[in-house]
Amino acid sequence: MTVQHTLILLKPDAVERQLVGHILSRFEQKGLRIVDLRWLRFTQELARQHYAEHIEKPFYSGLEKYIMSGPVVAAVLEGSEAIDVVRRLIGPTNGVEAPPGTIRGDFSLSNQQNLVHASDSAVSAEREINIFFPNGLK
Ligand code: CMP
Repeated sequence: MTVQHTLILLKPDAVERQLVGHILSRFEQKGLRIVDLRWLRFTQELARQHYAEHIEKPFYSGLEKYIMSGPVVAAVLEGSEAIDVVRRLIGPTNGVEAPPGTIRGDFSLSNQQNLVHASDSAVSAEREINIFFPNGLK
């Protein structure tokens, strides 16, 4: 088992629906440690940087509008195999298909407004942590 860091974003719908505390506690209850956390608002430039792999996709303009629509919370979680563990806790992208017990399965009915983003690989985690915490972790 490898101790890993992964990046999560609690997206504007999570903040608007006052699910920030609940979602963070799901991760904490699992045993993951919050090692850094900040509030921010996405600019268009940040959206294009973070979601670079999706810029050419048909849903990108809607995704950009959504992610810039309100404040978000960015955090770094630490734990054994944290990258895969967090992806399993949040569930598949589409809330309609996400199984009960996952965060998206319990709280989302959308493939866009799906509350949480989490890094999908070690390479993404390193890239994304550097985007949101460029000065290192606390
Ligand atoms: P996230 O895990 O942050 O990664 C990319 C985001 O794009 C995804 O969550 C959704 O918010 C959004 N997304 C992915 N697929 C679609 C889709 N088919 N239609 C609309 N939004 C999508």
